[in-house]
Amino acid sequence: MGENTLEKFVITGGKALCGTVDISGAKNAAVAIIPAAILIEDECIIENVPDIKDVRIILDILSSLGAKVEKLDANTVKIDATTLNTYVAEKEIASKMRASYYLLGALCGRFKKAVVPPPGGCNFGIRPIDQHIKGFEALSCKVEIKHGSIYVDGEQIKGGQVYFDVVSVGATINIMLAAVRAPGVTVMENAAKEPHIVDVANFLNSMGANIKGAGTDVIKITGVEKLHGGTYGVIPDQIEAGTYMFAAAATRGDVTIRNVIPKHLEAITSKFIEMGVEVAEGDDEIRVCAKGNLNKINVKTLPYPGFPTDLQPPMVALLTTVNGTSIVTEGVWDSRFQYVTELEKMGAKITVNGSVAVIEGGHPLTGADVKSTDLRAGAGMVIAALCANGTTEVLNVYHIDRGYENIIEKLTNLGADIKRTDD
Ligand code: EPU
Repeated sequence: MGENTLEKFVITGGKALCGTVDISGAKNAAVAIIPAAILIEDECIIENVPDIKDVRIILDILSSLGAKVEKLDANTVKIDATTLNTYVAEKEIASKMRASYYLLGALCGRFKKAVVPPPGGCNFGIRPIDQHIKGFEALSCKVEIKHGSIYVDGEQIKGGQVYFDVVSVGATINIMLAAVRAPGVTVMENAAKEPHIVDVANFLNSMGANIKGAGTDVIKITGVEKLHGGTYGVIPDQIEAGTYMFAAAATRGDVTIRNVIPKHLEAITSKFIEMGVEVAEGDDEIRVCAKGNLNKINVKTLPYPGFPTDLQPPMVALLTTVNGTSIVTEGVWDSRFQYVTELEKMGAKITVNGSVAVIEGGHPLTGADVKSTDLRAGAGMVIAALCANGTTEVLNVYHIDRGYENIIEKLTNLGADIKRTDD
């Protein structure tokens, strides 16, 4: 990916984070809304787009397909996909991110055909696409995997009904993209309900689509012939907001997290209250204040509105600072505890058995050289380092740069001792 594999964060822990932090636009909404613009033969202006690596990659992919992409400022992008002229995505860049699977739905929705290489992205076990394929087939598309790419033939595309066997964010959005311009009515049952699903639907509806029920587990889409341009603002990043909530609690700090939708953070807020962390919600901000020892807890990650899997590593990092035994069960991904060996290098006492991690908290962490094994594991490592005695070097921070805008600046403003080096 052209990553600078030498770049690392050097963090000296032990400082309580204090102050305010502004949350950026949601990565997982932006990486779906940008390819959704392929469906629109007109100019769209998308605001509150986070300036992160995954967004730059998906914008490059759109340019490489022939769309006009112009950055109006760091967080605003103008896309005109009228000139987009191919349904074949290049292997070299499309395989660099997981969300490139959205090109399947978007290109098929526009051209009735798509050829896209298998998705890349975070490595935490097998990441199947069988539910995406089930959805395309329900829309009368043929899907084949050959010559190292996924081929969708949607010559006969029309609305259809699909019941997903697994709640999948990616499959729900992908089929939404394929269905908005397909003739007839599509019904998705057991759809994912994450805030970014609602955001993608709101974006498309504001451009003339007819999508109802996003945010519930039944989504109904009536195909429209064409979409029109317009201006749309991406929702705040619930996972970035949650990450700063965890950083505040783990360092026993006092942080006001601004530009958030508190409702999207309820799963975290309720766990914090159980732990004895003070949480005060405003209209679009949350203040998190933690002191002294906190209560141990058990938590299981689940699809929204459950506790988000992407905040599982930050939660584990926090629980290493809490006396007693806490249990974290991963309910979304099969294999998302590889990073635990890195936390153990810092002195964490954690036993992993399959999808369950048992954390014996309260053993002080000490600085060490650790790797960021994926994006959210990297965030967990940064939080652990902020609590540890001494200095930690977090390697492979290119994972973290995929999803956190200005993380060094934001943490430094909160009083953290963190810098980026590449020696
Ligand atoms: N699954 C299937 N078949 C499919 C698709 C998914 O079995 O066809 C399973 C997966 O193996 C997993 C579960 O369903 O066990 C959920 O996967 P989902 O499809 O919901 O995940 P995704 O769309 O690939 C998005 C986020 C992830 C986040 C998950 C779960 C994006 C770009 N990525 O992935 O975010 O962990 O939803 O909430 O939206 C991240 O931001 O770091 C990240 C990995």
